[in-house]
Amino acid sequence: MMRLDKFLCETGKCTRSQARDWIRQGMVTVDEQTVRSPETRIREDEDLVCLQGRSLAYRKYVYYMLNKPRGVVSATADNRDKTVVELLGENMRPDIFPAGRLDKDTEGFLLLTNDGPLAHRLLAPGRHVDKTYMVTMEHALTREESGLLETGVEIGEKRPARAAGIQTIDETHILLTLQEGKFHQVKRMLQAVNNRVLALKRVSFGGIILDERLKPGEYRELTEAEVKILYDA
Ligand code: URA
Repeated sequence: MMRLDKFLCETGKCTRSQARDWIRQGMVTVDEQTVRSPETRIREDEDLVCLQGRSLAYRKYVYYMLNKPRGVVSATADNRDKTVVELLGENMRPDIFPAGRLDKDTEGFLLLTNDGPLAHRLLAPGRHVDKTYMVTMEHALTREESGLLETGVEIGEKRPARAAGIQTIDETHILLTLQEGKFHQVKRMLQAVNNRVLALKRVSFGGIILDERLKPGEYRELTEAEVKILYDA
């Protein structure tokens, strides 16, 4: 059982205060009866709730894979820049946030969700969730530099920062996997071996590969199987 205004809010259609207004205005029916009291308790799995005649399905948690474009910030609100949650358009709801951050000039896979407990687990430092980046570098890495990145380089943190894996694609491209998540970590690690990141794209997160059909700025819902992978990560 839950309050009707909370239910409406959690379908993602509105804020709690909008929900109360709509209910008081008679826009909401429960099992075909107009209900005007926001505190009415409903059975969220059984009752048919309609907003202006259209039925609403209750979903507590939502999960989106966004291909973050450059120039957009990983935040829920910003005075200057467009935020990643704004890219959700009509699917935006007030409780969705990015699970982790990508720099403004980084592209690629960002998970947008309202599942706080899952995000917390995925981002906890001890979890070692894999994040793989396609790195475009200023110049090629020597074998020695690549080895250093894998054993750990000083970037001014308590401990050296290390890559969990490096795969060479060509002279100036590598796939670099991190299990840590320090601020600007890839850029600072490459700087530590006298190189420079020219472009950065996250191509996988927690065992899920960025859907290549998504152009920068596009998103899709995760499948149930993908959500399960994240829960198992
Ligand atoms: N490392 C960086 O330097 N930037 C990112 O956006 C992600 C990882």
